[in-house]
Amino acid sequence: MILAVDQLEKTYRNGFRAVRDVSFAVEAGEIVALVGESGCGKTTTLKCINRLLEPSGGRVLIETEDAAVLDSVSLRRRIGWVMQGDGLFPHLSVAENVAVTPQLLGWEADRISSRVDDMLELVRLDPLEHRDRRPHQLSGGQRQRVGVARAGGGLQTGADG
Ligand SMILES: Nc1ncnc2c1ncn2[C@@H]1O[C@H](COP(=O)(O)OP(=O)(O)OP(=O)(O)O)[C@@H](O)[C@H]1O
Ligand SMILES: [Mg+2]
Repeated sequence: MILAVDQLEKTYRNGFRAVRDVSFAVEAGEIVALVGESGCGKTTTLKCINRLLEPSGGRVLIETEDAAVLDSVSLRRRIGWVMQGDGLFPHLSVAENVAVTPQLLGWEADRISSRVDDMLELVRLDPLEHRDRRPHQLSGGQRQRVGVARAGGGLQTGADG
């Protein structure tokens, strides 16, 4: 089991109860989709999983560890996240965007550079052509793919392992 969400609750500070009694588990290799109408609490649930929000109740287990007791910053570096909207840094190049997490993890420059190329190839963007572009020089779908490449950039289970 990679992830378990157990009776998750989230009430926002204004008293709005956005998530109530949500439970599910994800096994390694499994693809899970949360489907529901706009405003039903999908993003809130995901933010509770990586602790961009603190849950009001229930538990989140990441590989059997209780997310509440893990360091929230290192927890987030272990979880790839593609933003709603592209969420790219507009002032950084494509390569710099993909390199954000590896940089934070303190990888050496050569390793970062080859990971950036691998991740761009994985999402079918030619590194030579796209590495040095800014997000505004890409199509919407290309920006979304850079977001996917960035989400996987620092993961141990990505292209080099
Ligand atoms: N900071 C906040 N304070 C109060 N209520 C909030 C806050 N953020 C979101 N909400 C409300 O919580 C509910 C769930 O929002 P959430 O963003 O989780 O929905 P969603 O399922 O991701 O929707 P969408 O499909 O539109 O992205 C919505 O009704 C929203 O208005
Ligand atoms: Mg959402």
